Amino acid sequence: MSRLPIIIDTDPGQDDAAALWLALAHRDRLDLTFVATVAGNVGLDLTTANALRILDAAERPDMPVHRGADRPLVYDLEIADYISGPDGLAGAGLPLSSRAAHEEHAVDALIAALRAAPAPGLTLCPLGPLTNLALAFRLAPELLPRVERIVTMGGAIGLGNVTPAAEFNVYVDPHAAAIVYGCGRPIVMFGLGVTLQALASHDQIARFRDLGRCGRSLHGMLTRPRPGGFGTDGHPMHDLCVIAWLLWPELFSGRDCFVDVECAAGPQRGRTTIDWNGRTRRAPNAHVIATVEARDLFERVLEAFARLP
Ligand code: RIB
Ligand code: CA
Repeated sequence: MSRLPIIIDTDPGQDDAAALWLALAHRDRLDLTFVATVAGNVGLDLTTANALRILDAAERPDMPVHRGADRPLVYDLEIADYISGPDGLAGAGLPLSSRAAHEEHAVDALIAALRAAPAPGLTLCPLGPLTNLALAFRLAPELLPRVERIVTMGGAIGLGNVTPAAEFNVYVDPHAAAIVYGCGRPIVMFGLGVTLQALASHDQIARFRDLGRCGRSLHGMLTRPRPGGFGTDGHPMHDLCVIAWLLWPELFSGRDCFVDVECAAGPQRGRTTIDWNGRTRRAPNAHVIATVEARDLFERVLEAFARLP
């Protein structure tokens, strides 16, 4: 079976760490070309330092990390350190990396990777605000056909998590999200409606503690005290769903929908209006995932993490 070439664009973030490690645990199926960082959970310096820490824990000093956008396209940056902790990886217990990020900007690296991509192209996995992808699509629109698919965590069919209307990634940079959802390429969308189902059970969480460095670190992140947490039932691993879908799509279900992004400032900023019942008669622009078999998901994630350092 050929390996799927992917790029992960990320704002680590505990759940971003879980997604990165899962991708690295499946090198047999996923060919992670590089990691791009973006400001989101915390500022860009910290998300970049965290990406390097996460790769060190997996003993992957060969994996390039490219720094991307340090702020959204239009609005000021708003971070979520009240959830992810001051450094963005509360509970991880990982040392800082001595390695530096690559000197090439993430957007330039993304454009170069798309240009060099063999058919059918690259699968892009944005796990944070969509600023880097939006910039790349605006700078090199001719390369859009080289984007095989965009598999992204963001948005919500119902209540948001940063405001009643909006999920964090889309709220931070709704203009970038509007560019991506309007790019015409296939999108698989993991909104809060499904990612809040991605909760490991109490006994599954305990089993991470018996694994290697990455498993133990994820255990620490899953059981850290945090506002809005779920206690010993851990915390939703939003971003993990993106990589899990690439590996095990049979654990998920959804439907093609038209998705609209509200960019205006105000109480609806960042709302993703998902036309689940086709009322607008607008052509679908995303495959919206609605359900996940959480227990099976984490059983498979545990098996994968057992292969990590
Ligand atoms: O709303 C959850 C999303 O925002 C996740 O990707 C989390 O890591 C943060 O980026
Ligand atoms: Ca994220």
